Amino acid sequence: EWITEQRKLCVKQFNVSVVIDVLRATSTVITALSNGARSVIPVSNIEEALELKHRHPEYIIAGERGGQRIEGFQLGNSPTEYAEAVVRDKTIVLTTSNGTNAIIHASNLAERVLIASFLNLTTVVHELAGYDSSTNIAIVCAGNNGEISYEDTQVAGAIISKLTKNRAHYLSDSSKIAMKLWHALKKPNFSGEHAKKLSQLGFDKDLEFCQKVDYIPILAELRDGKIIKVEYN
Ligand code: MLT
Repeated sequence: EWITEQRKLCVKQFNVSVVIDVLRATSTVITALSNGARSVIPVSNIEEALELKHRHPEYIIAGERGGQRIEGFQLGNSPTEYAEAVVRDKTIVLTTSNGTNAIIHASNLAERVLIASFLNLTTVVHELAGYDSSTNIAIVCAGNNGEISYEDTQVAGAIISKLTKNRAHYLSDSSKIAMKLWHALKKPNFSGEHAKKLSQLGFDKDLEFCQKVDYIPILAELRDGKIIKVEYN
């Protein structure tokens, strides 16, 4: 629903989009970049990842389907797998069920695409605060296979809440809903469907890690198809 709603807005050109897949793609991207990965290339399917690997054997191919590492791929989608010893100076090609498609989709919506999670929450807000309040911002929540995600909505709400604290912004209905949710919760609450599924699959450590607010204060942006770490003010 969430992404479908965003798709309807395709006709509108946004200045900035912010992509959220807190469980787990955007948390994974932020972790990989902070641990020294050169870039993360989001691709929408397995074939594309394999094709890139064929052309660039030095690339690491990574991703999940159904939460589990794709057969033959070097990494899954657990941020905890992306240790410095594994990813430093590497280019990672990532394909996930929802998150990487949301990033690609966002690149058609806006001039700039920023990557958000709880890990880098305030950094993203500071970057957005550098724009004036008439700037058109699209917050793209990846969701789960077309369904709204409880966890992504919390990150969206936290961003909107912090950004509008001292200044007025036009807010869409979905933004208001996200903000109200965050005001009610005040801290991450990972009890949605995807969180439950990840827990059943044994990924409780990922749930714990992805809830760490501002644990990795970096800014990540999609540029020419590659997500890189960028300087911020
Ligand atoms: C996704 O892209 O749907 C998620 O990142 C799935 C996951 O938790 O691995």
